[in-house]
Amino acid sequence: MDLLEVKEISKTFTQKSRPPHIVLEKLSFSVERGQYVSLLGPSGCGKTTLLTMLGGFMPADTGQIFLAGKKVEGPGPDRGFVFQNYALFPWMTVKENILYSLKVQKFSKKEREQRLQELLDISHLHGSENKYPIQLSGGMQQRVAVVRALASRPEILLLDEPLGAIDFQMRELLQEELAALVEGAKTTVVMVTHDVNESVYLSDRVIVMSANKGRIIKDAYIDLPRSRSRQSKAFKEHVFELSDLVRQAFQERDCDRQADISVRDMDMGSDSNFIASYNRMHSKYTNVANGRSRAAK
Ligand SMILES: Nc1ncnc2c1ncn2[C@@H]1O[C@H](COP(=O)(O)OP(=O)(O)OP(=O)(O)O)[C@@H](O)[C@H]1O
Ligand SMILES: [Mg+2]
Repeated sequence: MDLLEVKEISKTFTQKSRPPHIVLEKLSFSVERGQYVSLLGPSGCGKTTLLTMLGGFMPADTGQIFLAGKKVEGPGPDRGFVFQNYALFPWMTVKENILYSLKVQKFSKKEREQRLQELLDISHLHGSENKYPIQLSGGMQQRVAVVRALASRPEILLLDEPLGAIDFQMRELLQEELAALVEGAKTTVVMVTHDVNESVYLSDRVIVMSANKGRIIKDAYIDLPRSRSRQSKAFKEHVFELSDLVRQAFQERDCDRQADISVRDMDMGSDSNFIASYNRMHSKYTNVANGRSRAAK
């Protein structure tokens, strides 16, 4: 049995004086235990909506989600969640942030202390446990958010653009750290990203979603050995193929008006132009709290 089973879920948002917006329609896929799956797709295609439903924070209109055979009906400690803007509690220290879920679940002080040491070990955050998020760099905040999500030893880690706010130069380094963190925790992952290179570097599987009702355009297996060389021919071929599919996903767009404008502005002429425009558009429309990375510097 697969660890995660998503069965024909649909979600429509209705707002006053606007036609109903079908974000996802009868979306189905499953994830094996231990797999690292990335979701790629244009801004507004429903990636966060899907992840939020996997987290149990929002119900689907129709369809069902099962985790380890159990129907998802609300949030639970079997799912660790890293939000698109990290959402660390700014008034809590690193240690308090990491241990928050264990405190809520009434773990003993001894258990919490032991788990904290394990998590500081795997995240190399020793020495920062008494700092506040604002005192950390963006990369360190990202690590805190990931280990906080790992604290309760979840069955699955749900990551919404975990490196979305990180400078391009830092991203590759942090992708390596993220891979090591996840490997150390031996967890299953579903990660939203808009970075094709990142998805190929980290994932066993990449699912490309269309802007048109979240249709799955492609479910691609990345059968490259780890650790992966971004310079290898096979790596570049995967990036090339997926970039092409993302381009197709844009062209299927018919729902997100805000992003439509930017798609019209995009230079779709060549691959490098396409990827650069795509990244620019994404950082413009993504929900990342822009002030955060500035404040952290
Ligand atoms: N609570 C809501 N009420 C109404 N519309 C919503 C709500 N949440 C999301 N939407 C709309 O649903 C669509 C999908 O949003 P979602 O945040 O899932 O996109 P996304 O793929 O994560 O985009 P991005 O890559 O920019 O983060 C968007 O058009 C968004 O405006
Ligand atoms: Mg999103």
